[in-house]
Amino acid sequence: MPSGRCGLVIYLDNSATTRPHPQVIETMSRAMASYYGNPSSLHRKGLEAESVLKQAREVAAKYLGCKPGEVIFTSGGTESNNAAIKGVAFQYQGRGKHIITTQVEHPAVFDVCKQLESMGFTVTYVPVDHEGRVRLEDVQQAMRPDTILVSVMHVNNELGTIQPVAEIGKWLKQFPKVLFHVDAVQGIGKVPLKLKDSGIDLLSVSAHKFYGPRGVGILFKREGLIIQPLLMGGGQEAGVRSGTENLPAIAGLAKAIRILEELGSVETVRLQRLLEQLREGISQIEGCQVNTPKSGVAPHIMNLSVPGVKAEVLLHALEERGFYVSTKSACSSKANEPSRVLMAIGIEAECALSSLRISLGRENTADEVNQFVAALRECVKSLRAYMKTETKSVTR
Ligand SMILES: Cc1ncc(COP(=O)(O)O)c(C=O)c1O
Repeated sequence: MPSGRCGLVIYLDNSATTRPHPQVIETMSRAMASYYGNPSSLHRKGLEAESVLKQAREVAAKYLGCKPGEVIFTSGGTESNNAAIKGVAFQYQGRGKHIITTQVEHPAVFDVCKQLESMGFTVTYVPVDHEGRVRLEDVQQAMRPDTILVSVMHVNNELGTIQPVAEIGKWLKQFPKVLFHVDAVQGIGKVPLKLKDSGIDLLSVSAHKFYGPRGVGILFKREGLIIQPLLMGGGQEAGVRSGTENLPAIAGLAKAIRILEELGSVETVRLQRLLEQLREGISQIEGCQVNTPKSGVAPHIMNLSVPGVKAEVLLHALEERGFYVSTKSACSSKANEPSRVLMAIGIEAECALSSLRISLGRENTADEVNQFVAALRECVKSLRAYMKTETKSVTR
């Protein structure tokens, strides 16, 4: 990674992706070298690979609190979301064509719903409050006789807000024909969620958000639930997701889960402290506005705005000093539009265009947070001064 002017590299973009744990890399490299058989092959090499796959499925199931047969390996969060939402829509369209989701979903849910609208489905995008949280009453109000699916994310990827998924899921239990999907990509390993108690039928997970490899994830699918597969072929993954399994990546995912289990809640508590420290530091910088709510948030995401300063300019000024952060979600940060999520919580377009997301991870320390706050203060001060002189010269 190229470093800042002074050779410093402080990575604060852990919601975009995390650096794979060295043990994950080691596990993957071993799986690639030794378990190269196809898990579907009948010979010994195939059986060895199948045994690795089985173990990984058991590790994932234990962590999620489900049965191994309910774990479907996919290529990541985007695929899991597509497979869940389209899989339900196509399978149950005879029952109804109405879907409920929220205004603040990740594009891997939001744009899937938009696509389904163009195919004749109707979608209600439930609003959120000023903290980015959906209210159960609004989901209740959106319910219709032809509703087949409710999809609500666990943790918002831009603000860090935790959605009341358990509450929604419990209420939904009285509608057994309405399925409940949760995009848990930002919550896994950070915010506990009880799958079974929360009435969740489908849940999306992505390994690269918790120090595992990219391009691998999980779709939890409740036992007995039938959905239309997106990918047809060899019938792998119980026929729900055909394609030869990416064994090294799946083994890496399982290793990343094992490490999460070993660390337990200790890491969450540490991140919470760092996030508080970050909030305090940012709040004291003149011209900075914190957009992430104070409570009911994940321990790793902090969204801020510097009205009048373009987010991209601030991002590169920080990068020059060695700090790596994001504008909006990484997947859409190249589009020069104000964030849909920030607009949904009532933030003005100008303010939304100046927003940055700082996301903490396992490797960040209190000292790094202090260094970041100092660098941010410097950047904001000089960029705001520059903006003032620019405005003066334009109005002169
Ligand atoms: C909430 C959420 N859902 C889905 C995704 C997509 O996951 P993946 O990158 O594994 O496709 C992301 C990635 O940023 C995300 O934050």
